[in-house]
Amino acid sequence: MGCAPSKNIDLTGEVSLYHFDLHRVVGKGAFGKVRVVQHKRSKNLYALKYMDKQQCLKQKAVPNIIQERRLLEEVDHPFLVNLRYAFQDDDNCFFVLDLMLGGDLRYHLNTRGNFPESVVRFWTAELASGLVYLHSNGIMHRDIKPENILLDAKGHAALTDLNIAMHYSQHRMHTSVAGSMAYMAPEVVDDKRPGYSWQVDWWSLGVCVYELLWNRRPFDGKSAEKMRESIMTHPIRKPSQRHGAVSSECTAALFGLLERDPKKRLGCRTGFSSIDEIQSQNWFSQINWEKLQAKQLDPPFVPNQDSANFDFSHQLDEFMLAEKPLTAHKRKANPEKMKPEMRQLETDFTVYDFERSGRRSYYPLNEPLVAEHSHDGRLRPTFTSSSHTNTNTYVQSSTATSQTRSSTSHSERPRYSSQHDPR
Ligand SMILES: Nc1ncnc2c1ncn2[C@@H]1O[C@H](COP(=O)(O)OP(=O)(O)O)[C@@H](O)[C@H]1O
Ligand SMILES: [Mg+2]
Repeated sequence: MGCAPSKNIDLTGEVSLYHFDLHRVVGKGAFGKVRVVQHKRSKNLYALKYMDKQQCLKQKAVPNIIQERRLLEEVDHPFLVNLRYAFQDDDNCFFVLDLMLGGDLRYHLNTRGNFPESVVRFWTAELASGLVYLHSNGIMHRDIKPENILLDAKGHAALTDLNIAMHYSQHRMHTSVAGSMAYMAPEVVDDKRPGYSWQVDWWSLGVCVYELLWNRRPFDGKSAEKMRESIMTHPIRKPSQRHGAVSSECTAALFGLLERDPKKRLGCRTGFSSIDEIQSQNWFSQINWEKLQAKQLDPPFVPNQDSANFDFSHQLDEFMLAEKPLTAHKRKANPEKMKPEMRQLETDFTVYDFERSGRRSYYPLNEPLVAEHSHDGRLRPTFTSSSHTNTNTYVQSSTATSQTRSSTSHSERPRYSSQHDPR
């Protein structure tokens, strides 16, 4: 599959879809697909995530797409799926990301079932490292779940999908219900509590650990209300031995993450996101953290290299001609005639090229855009359905409560910076 003949294309000019050869589809997102692409000049392979602008507009997700674009530019870490290019045309917004050929963990849970403790421990350690980095940059993910954890071809894990991530405030708690219900922390679903902050990500990681160990989730309910009750009050039980025995060290770490009080939760006890707390758990005592963080440890689970690690049905829509194939087009649209949201995309979804642009932080510029922005107070499903029992992401807008919290102020962070060091 190709894109356009390269002979009239200036591959040294501003990045666009013309710079890539398009290959197979490897994933489906809320507003479009993800496919393998090859940069025509460098020959490097990447993942291209594209989002249909009209869909984004319809689902009132324009601020999220801009937010995702900005946050992606701010981060670069071995255990995150990093941004390499961003651009748009008349129909789509595009992210060109590190290619993760090992598939997402939902795919592996569906096709293989649960994983041995040693594999889950390795992924948890890598993801914890990525999470601490995100938090040290003032960003909470809010949507950690197996769909958003990807493996590279060797089996290293990385977090992806910053679509509903945001800069958390050190001065107030957040109250908008965002995420995927089964992975939401008690402080997110409890409307009587003062709100939530970055600690929610450690809880969601705990739900993922549970699911990876036993291929079932710790909380369930046939209605949203029952699910909320389960998350907030039901005793958390390990499945019986026949579903897979795990060590007491593993159970201790898991129950540390699934601690309902965010102040006592593993990773959160010192008041900031802490890799030391994770490292001091017996479950991780055998891990050489220096090597792990340098990606020098051999992953215990290597994805199948002979067959694709993704759901082939994503590709079928194009084969069946149910969907317009993706091709590069010259831009024709006139920004002056666009709806305001479209014009906002035009100006704020700026081009990014990792070889030319230094990374920078948009904080606090991006905060009003997504931080509890209120369109109309409705739930915004980012997938076609948003039932509590599935694992779809949704965002509900509401106002944040002001809360004074003691820790370093964001205003101390540089407005523009090329690199943030992890704490
Ligand atoms: N960099 C990547 N490499 C390989 N597959 C990817 C990559 N990014 C996303 N995918 C696949 O596409 C799916 C959707 O991407 P995601 O970024 O989560 O979109 P959405 O915000 O719409 O959920 C993922 O669950 C994964 O299967
Ligand atoms: Mg996703």
